[in-house]
Amino acid sequence: MASYSFTSIAIHALISIPLLLNLSCLFHNLNLAAAAKHGSSKVHASHHHHHHRGNHNHPDPAAASDDSNPRLHLAFLALQAWKRVIYSDPYNFTSNWVGPSVCNYKGVFCAPALDDPRIQVVAGIDLNKGNIAGFLPEELGLLCDLALIHLNSNRFCGILPQSMANLTLLYELDLSNNRFVGPFPTVVLSLPTLKYLDLRYNEFEGPLSPQLFKKKLDAIFVNNNRFTNVLPATFGGSSASVLVFANNNFGGCLPPSIVSFADTLEELLLINTNLSGCLPQEIGFLYKLRVLDVSYNKLVGPIPYSMAGLSHLEQLNLAHNSMTGIVPDGVCCLPNLANFTFSYNYFCEEEGICQNLTSKGIAFDDRQNCLPEKPYQRSQKECNATLEHPVDCFEHPCEGGFGGGTAAFAPTIAAVPAATPRSSPFSTTAPSYT
Ligand SMILES: *[C@@H]1O[C@H](CO)[C@@H](O)[C@H](O)[C@H]1NC(C)=O
Ligand SMILES: *[C@@H]1O[C@H](CO)[C@@H](O)[C@H](O)[C@H]1NC(C)=O
Ligand SMILES: *[C@@H]1O[C@H](CO)[C@@H](O)[C@H](O)[C@H]1NC(C)=O
Ligand SMILES: *[C@@H]1O[C@H](CO)[C@@H](O)[C@H](O)[C@H]1NC(C)=O
Ligand SMILES: *[C@@H]1O[C@H](CO)[C@@H](O)[C@H](O)[C@H]1NC(C)=O
Ligand SMILES: *[C@@H]1O[C@H](CO)[C@@H](O)[C@H](O)[C@H]1NC(C)=O
Repeated sequence: MASYSFTSIAIHALISIPLLLNLSCLFHNLNLAAAAKHGSSKVHASHHHHHHRGNHNHPDPAAASDDSNPRLHLAFLALQAWKRVIYSDPYNFTSNWVGPSVCNYKGVFCAPALDDPRIQVVAGIDLNKGNIAGFLPEELGLLCDLALIHLNSNRFCGILPQSMANLTLLYELDLSNNRFVGPFPTVVLSLPTLKYLDLRYNEFEGPLSPQLFKKKLDAIFVNNNRFTNVLPATFGGSSASVLVFANNNFGGCLPPSIVSFADTLEELLLINTNLSGCLPQEIGFLYKLRVLDVSYNKLVGPIPYSMAGLSHLEQLNLAHNSMTGIVPDGVCCLPNLANFTFSYNYFCEEEGICQNLTSKGIAFDDRQNCLPEKPYQRSQKECNATLEHPVDCFEHPCEGGFGGGTAAFAPTIAAVPAATPRSSPFSTTAPSYT
C-alpha cells in the first residue's frame, strides 16, 4: 500500500506552524531535566514520536492550577464537565482528573500561554488509545488555549459541540477511530489555525463541505466514514498535501477541479469511493503527487497521457476498475515510479518498457487484463465484450463534483469493492503523531 509520509507531514507541520515553533523555542530555554518532566514539553515531545503518557510531576509551581490563574480555572470547569459525560474509561485515563491541578491530569498538557509566557494554560489533550466512551460536552469551548486534541481510538460518540469554534489556537484535531456521527462537523471550518484534520474511522455522513477545501489545511483524512459527494466543480486556494478519501461512498466522477491542489498535493487516496467515469487529464497536472491510489472503483476509459508528467510519482494503483486502452510508456518511464499496480482492468497493450517493468526495478501487477502476451489475463470473451463498447471520455466530461457528476459509463463488469481491513492500510494508530 501507499507509503504514507506521516513523518514528513509532522516535520512539515512543525516547521510551518509558528505556534509549535514558539513552544519549541521556549523549551530550549528550560533546564533539560525540568523540561523532561514538564507537562508542556510533552506537547512538544508528542511531535517527536516519543511521547510518554502517565505521571507528570510539575517542578514548576506555576504549572499547578490555583485561583490566581483564571484560564486554568476555566480548564478545570471544562475537564470536570467532560469527565461527567465519560461513561467508560477502562484504562483509568481520567481517574486522576480530580481537583484544580489540571496540569497534572493524565492526558492533559500545559504550556506557557502564547500571549503571556508567565502563565500556564492547557495547550494539549491527548487521550489516544484510551478506549474511553462518552461525549464531548459544550464546556470544551472553555479550553480556548488548546493547540492539540488527540482522541484517536476511543469510543466518543455523538456530535462535536458548537462551542469548539472557541478553540481559535487549535491546529491539530485528531478524532479518528471513534463513533462520531451526523453531518460533516462544520464547526471545524471556523477554526482559523487548523492545519491537520483527521476524522477517519467514524460514522459521519452526507456531503463533505466544499469550504473544507478552501481552508489552509496540510492534511485531510476523512477515510472510512459515510461521506457522499466531495469536491465541488470549481474551487481554489487549497493547500493540502495529503487527501485521504478512501472507503466512503462518493459516487460520480473525479472532477477536473482536482487541479486546484496542484501546488501542494502529494498523496491522493480515493480507494473504494464508488468513483465512476474517466480520470480527468487534470490528474496529470498534480505535479507534486507521490502517491495516487484510485483502486477499487468503477473508473473507465484510458490512462490520461498527462500522467507522464507526474515526475515525483512513486506509487500508482489503478487496480480493480474497468479501465481500457494502452498502458503508456510515458507512465512506465517516470523516474521515481517504484510500484505500478493496474491489475483487474481491461488494458489491452503495454507500451514500450511497460512490458518489462522488472528491468526497471519497478514492482508491478498487470494480472487480469486483456494483455495478449501476459499470463493470468481475462478470457477473450470477457475482453471482447468490453472492447466492443469503447468509452468516449470527451463525450461525457465530468461536470459536477463526485455524486453530482455523470455516471454515464456502465462498466461491463463492476469492480468489486474490497472490504479494506480496519488496520492496514488505513491504520488509525500508525500515523498518529504521538
Ligand atoms: C505495490 O502496491 C500494491 C498496491 O498498493 C501492493 O499491494 C503491493 O504490496 C506493492 N508491492 C510492493 C513490492 O511494494
Ligand atoms: C482502574 O481502576 C480500577 C479501580 O481503581 C481498578 O480496579 C482497575 O484495575 C484499574 N484499571 C487499570 C487498567 O489500571
Ligand atoms: C470561549 O472562551 C472564553 C475564554 O477565552 C470563555 O470566556 C467563553 O465562555 C468561551 N465560550 C464558550 C462558548 O465556551
Ligand atoms: C455509487 O454511485 C452512484 C452514483 O454515481 C450511485 O447511483 C450508486 O448507488 C452508488 N453505489 C452504491 C453501492 O451506493
Ligand atoms: C526483462 O528485462 C530483464 C533485464 O533487463 C531481462 O533479463 C528479461 O529477460 C526481460 N524479460 C522479458 C519478458 O523480456
Ligand atoms: C474476440 O474478438 C476477436 C476479434 O474480433 C475474434 O477473432 C475472436 O473470435 C473473439 N473471441 C471471442 C471468444 O469472442
